[in-house]
Amino acid sequence: MQTVVVDHPLVAHKLTTLRDVGTDSPTFRRLADELVTLLAYEATRSVRVEPRAISTPVADTVGTALASPKPLVVPILRAGLGMLDGMMRLLPTAEVGFLGMVRDEATLEAATYAERLPADLSGRQVYVLDPMLATGGTLAAAIRFLVDRGADDITCVVLLAAPEGCANLEAGLEGVDVPVTVVTAAMDERLNENGYIVPGLGDAGDRLYG
Ligand code: PRP
Repeated sequence: MQTVVVDHPLVAHKLTTLRDVGTDSPTFRRLADELVTLLAYEATRSVRVEPRAISTPVADTVGTALASPKPLVVPILRAGLGMLDGMMRLLPTAEVGFLGMVRDEATLEAATYAERLPADLSGRQVYVLDPMLATGGTLAAAIRFLVDRGADDITCVVLLAAPEGCANLEAGLEGVDVPVTVVTAAMDERLNENGYIVPGLGDAGDRLYG
């Protein structure tokens, strides 16, 4: 598993306002959307492309186009929905599938409660959207689900990650032999006893959707 912490002053600036407890939901939604677009630029660095012959007004040339099949973008409900528009701004032709997962607040175990994905993901490059990588249980379960369907390259775009969660995720992916990359706006200090990222930004789902 590869982890990329996006080091950019605009990312740091927007993330600081997102973290602030005084930021209201409309502002939080707008900033999350803007932040994801910045992260998407990094996250799509290895998006699959193919040559495309075109004619400019001046000459024929060979350029670059997204390869087929198009990438699949999978927001993890509910909080990942707040990241979908920001991602689709850079990948407007991507296909979108949905995975509903919830973390039991007592056991911190992740469970799948909804799924709307293509039945066969063989050979597909998948971008998973979820604002928080806390214990890592949700992303580990989501990635296993996608790999079982045939996905062969997975990039997770998150706003915040905790070091313990990254280690758990890596351990939870033992035996998964497709490339997995995590792109995050920041690597925070730790998890607290309730499984929240510290300093974090609170519960992303609640701050997005109340
Ligand atoms: C939150 C968050 C992640 C998950 C991260 O979702 O959006 O999906 O927890 O935690 P983990 O890394 O410890 O698994 P939550 O279960 O609160 O659901 P929601 O998105 O519906 O609010």
